[in-house]
Amino acid sequence: MSQEENASQSQSQRLDQDQSGKPIVLGIESTCDETAAGIVQGGKLLANVVASSMDLHARFGGVIPEIASRAHAEAFIPVVRRALANANLDLSQIDAIAVSAGPGLAGCLAVGVSGAKSLALAAHKPIYGINHVIGHISVTQLQFGTIPPDTLALIVSGGHTSLLRVHDIAQDVRVVGTTLDDAAGECFDKIARLLGFPYPGGPYIDRHARVGNPNALKVPEGLTKGNAGKKHPYDFSFSGVKTAVARWVEERQQDGQQVPVDDVCASLAHSVADVLSGKAMRACAADHSSVLIVGGGFSANSQLRRALLEKGKAAGVEVRLPRRELCTDNGAMVAMLGSNLVEEGMPSSPLDFSIDSAMALNKIYMAPKAHVAQ
Ligand code: KG4
Ligand code: ZN
Repeated sequence: MSQEENASQSQSQRLDQDQSGKPIVLGIESTCDETAAGIVQGGKLLANVVASSMDLHARFGGVIPEIASRAHAEAFIPVVRRALANANLDLSQIDAIAVSAGPGLAGCLAVGVSGAKSLALAAHKPIYGINHVIGHISVTQLQFGTIPPDTLALIVSGGHTSLLRVHDIAQDVRVVGTTLDDAAGECFDKIARLLGFPYPGGPYIDRHARVGNPNALKVPEGLTKGNAGKKHPYDFSFSGVKTAVARWVEERQQDGQQVPVDDVCASLAHSVADVLSGKAMRACAADHSSVLIVGGGFSANSQLRRALLEKGKAAGVEVRLPRRELCTDNGAMVAMLGSNLVEEGMPSSPLDFSIDSAMALNKIYMAPKAHVAQ
């Protein structure tokens, strides 16, 4: 059994307590190219259904918002129905509905939020418009149990690379550092495109990196050294990485030379994993955090997972890495954050709440006006 499986098994044993008296929350996700519905009760996952429109975007090399929105409109009802059926529940047995209100693609968010509001109105249920990024942190509770107050979170997805301090998942999350330009996922996807991999290219780089030489090319480590490193101890920059690797590849392509794809992937992946894990561990040491939560689609990356587990072990930090199906966008993460809000007695969102495609990372959900001051 791997180190990862071992950690995950011993932690899931902590969740074997009875959750039957806890509220049941339906979570709906539609920020990008996944239409998803999850159902949780306390820390227990009852259903998790995901329909992806990724195949429809692959030939364009990136997500086309119009196509994604249409796919959400088609999949919304079937996905919610399947989640309820898998949990053996009907809508009347749900205690609350949560939906991602941002950040994400505006048209996609509008489909999920409107659908969720209609369900809430029809079934007389409270609704919570939640922050998708905070959902990526919250979902780890399904695997590892409650989040201690000294926790840091590293969120790495297609659009975000951020370090957050989680004082209270339902009420107080603060930004410690963030990317000043490209996110790690974005950088991987762009290099992958240049290497001829389909969208999204992150998983292809991961696979090829496993057999390549990580020292084959020198990849810059943005904001780690000198004054820039001192000024931005917990911020990230991946645009220099992207440009340097792209230039290296393009020069060889133009000269008609063969590009050593595995070595390019390994050098890129190891450099990015090193920067992300190094900054996260430094932030844990500075904040005396003994738990680091990792979330977002990029947290499925093997090189990052290994670097974090190794550095976490050396530093005495428990690294909470979600199982791969909980790393990428899903409804369980939305339901879990909804469950935290319900359990902490937070007031539900007003039915006229808006979507927020650029929702700030310290805004946990669309609270009623009187509750906005956090
Ligand atoms: O969180 P997510 O599912 O969607 C956003 O909210 O952005 O993250 C998607 C990102 C993509 O950039 C994808 O290439 C990347 O996560 N990704 C990976 C891996 N799996 C997904 N990147 C590197 N290695 C992976 N194994
Ligand atoms: Zn995401």
